[in-house]
Amino acid sequence: MEVLDEGFIRSFIRMADDGWKQGWHERNGGNLSYRLTPADVNAIEDVLSAIEAQRWESISDEGAALALRDIAGEMFLITAAGSYFRNITLEPERCMGIIEVDDAGLRYRIRWGFADGGRPTSELPTHLLNHSVKKRVSDGRIRVIYHCHPANINALTFVLPHSGAVFTRELWGMISECAMVFPEGVAVVEWMVPGSIDIARASAKEMEHCNVVIWVHHGMFCAGEDFDSAFGLMHTVEKAAEVLVKVRSMSGGCECVSRITDQNLADLADAYDLDLTPAELAL
Ligand code: 13P
Ligand code: ZN
Repeated sequence: MEVLDEGFIRSFIRMADDGWKQGWHERNGGNLSYRLTPADVNAIEDVLSAIEAQRWESISDEGAALALRDIAGEMFLITAAGSYFRNITLEPERCMGIIEVDDAGLRYRIRWGFADGGRPTSELPTHLLNHSVKKRVSDGRIRVIYHCHPANINALTFVLPHSGAVFTRELWGMISECAMVFPEGVAVVEWMVPGSIDIARASAKEMEHCNVVIWVHHGMFCAGEDFDSAFGLMHTVEKAAEVLVKVRSMSGGCECVSRITDQNLADLADAYDLDLTPAELAL
């Protein structure tokens, strides 16, 4: 069987193409990764063992300071640095590949894909740190990490204070379903150099307690158990951001005549047994 026929690979490609169609991936913007299940690895084992594994590389220049023991030995399907999501349906073996993390969680090597000398995304440290945290805090359930550049959430980072609580309350207030889709809220990471270990560490710290991390003047990271939930979460947050941008644009700084109130959120929390934090509700 062809690797490209595997269900997890097809779902990965479909999600990347969906993100492209949403307009979230200009040029090479954004990246996506998926932690393979043992069944996924079994299904492609013959193909992998027939390919000569490449040499081990450090996950980060920080070397031993970044030992990701929680994901030691795991395999990941991940997009290639500089690749365009627009092209993933046409050239999947160039736009993505499979990597394996070593037993110490320090290095990785390419096992499949990244045709013509490609390599994993420049945001590899953030993806792997996030996977490491998410595997631990979700008892292994979270397998997808997704980064893209949606315009509305980015626009809001120019006008809202860079506070997770403020973004959370504003976004919950835009669409009734938001508090149900992301009851743990969103986090905001200040502007930092993309691809750096600092932004990876800052993001992973926030991933300890939520599944959405906004990068100021850049984009967003989401985590999900599967492709549908990661994509759906990104879609919901960006839709709420779009409503907020429209409302602010229409109202020209005036008070809105209607809003989702703290009481409405408290009623939602009661009805759906949500753990909405009081600090955010009180804003
Ligand atoms: P890559 O092309 O290396 O994945 O980088 C895109 C990006 O969005 C960086 O933040
Ligand atoms: Zn980016």
